[in-house]
Amino acid sequence: STQSSSQTCVLALDQGTTSSRAILFGRDGRAVASSQQEFEQLYPQPGHVEHDPEAIWDSQITTAKAALSKADAENRPVAALGITNQRETTVLWDRATGKAVANAIVWQSRITTEFCKKLREDGHEATFTRKTGLLLDPYFSGTKIAYLLDTIDGLRARAERGEILFGTVDSFLLWRLTGGKVHATDVSNASRTLLFNLETLDWDDELLGILNVPRAMLPEIVPSSGIVGETDPTVLGVKLPIAGIAGDQQAATFGQACFQPGTAKNTYGTGCFLLMNTGTKPVVSEQKLLTTVGWKIGEEVTYCLEGSVLVAGAVVQWLRDQMGFIEHSSEIEQLADQVTDSDGVYFVPAFVGLGAPYWNPGGRGTIVGLTRGTTKAHLARAALESMAFQTRDVLDAMTADSGVTLKELRVDGGASANDLLMQFQSDLLGVPVHRPVVRETTALGAAYLAGLATGVWDDLSEIEANWALDREFRPTQPRSDSDGRYERWREAVRRALDWDE
Ligand code: G3P
Repeated sequence: STQSSSQTCVLALDQGTTSSRAILFGRDGRAVASSQQEFEQLYPQPGHVEHDPEAIWDSQITTAKAALSKADAENRPVAALGITNQRETTVLWDRATGKAVANAIVWQSRITTEFCKKLREDGHEATFTRKTGLLLDPYFSGTKIAYLLDTIDGLRARAERGEILFGTVDSFLLWRLTGGKVHATDVSNASRTLLFNLETLDWDDELLGILNVPRAMLPEIVPSSGIVGETDPTVLGVKLPIAGIAGDQQAATFGQACFQPGTAKNTYGTGCFLLMNTGTKPVVSEQKLLTTVGWKIGEEVTYCLEGSVLVAGAVVQWLRDQMGFIEHSSEIEQLADQVTDSDGVYFVPAFVGLGAPYWNPGGRGTIVGLTRGTTKAHLARAALESMAFQTRDVLDAMTADSGVTLKELRVDGGASANDLLMQFQSDLLGVPVHRPVVRETTALGAAYLAGLATGVWDDLSEIEANWALDREFRPTQPRSDSDGRYERWREAVRRALDWDE
């Protein structure tokens, strides 16, 4: 590109569920500097999950400053900033002070289970699904907003007067980064709220009415690539154009260069999210997958089908923090590698119920097949395998919905570093699994979206050319073996769902 030198880079802020990251990418799509900070998870009641918005903000700003000072030290110009974020997590704040009115309700939280049930009983699910591509599950933002408006005294009246603003985390960060000048969200994040109409690409009055959410509190909806504002110099010390926003899973799909319909990626993070590009028209799922906006660039919208697994990498954290099996997450592979299989143990990590394709908020974690000989290693192995089994649940549904048989599955996220898991995944799916050199594809996707809007990259083909394979995992096991194991998994899932009262 003529607009930028070879030294030019783009800063991506990746505000995830358990940590905030800031990564600077060069034009070759490789990381130049990176900084990460974990922050506290709050579990006020079983199945409820919250974040302190100030902890989100502080960790994000600390990491952003660290990355920027590295660019400074190396004299590299930073052309733009992109934001990507844990989706659905709901923040309400005071327009006048910028202070949140309550803790953020995290996407995993089951706090609105009863409300969702009531909405289903009142016959609203078909309307929501038809208009938003989602389901009436506590996962999404809409019922979380309603919950806060219903439970905090006087809040709805204030929201109606425009004094209280809603945002997913992208929107909250954007508000703060611009010094309270811009209240906006991108289409991909908007498509996770239960308030957004996939056809009109706008907030939907009928849905706002059902959930009793005032329009005055909602952000403006903008494309995923394009300058929406600039950073207030008192925040990061510099004025940077904020030029890209996308939910983390959509950003990862973009960062993996899944630009052709039928291409797909799976991200192994706190949860696990498989997204397939379905082109410029939304595809309606018959298998309880979600229809979601991938990204909007210029006037063109790309849609995806998504399978959302609510607990994936979180199971490793659980073995580390609650069970004390390991000290660091990375030790899980070594522990699991001490045995050649799980010896018939199946571990269904339905800690917050199960997401796609079951959507059962009341199910609970279940371990079956224990014997006197079961060891920590078997349990660790079964825990790792649960990520691959859940991915198969989702991919089977996606194949049925889309009619597309995958030629390859691109993978990223923390646990994709695990060779054992990736080999098991390939065997279980019968599909080659491709791991790129840059596994931080979420942040990379946000950088690409911002850089496309500011002349750092000219077009998608430049981005595609940056994608490089680290390692391919091909299926080695006979199909009948992996299908047999998968049948047992389905049986274990039935038992986890049974626990629902
Ligand atoms: O929908 C929730 C998702 O955006 C969270 O992603 O990577 O923080 O688990 P992650």
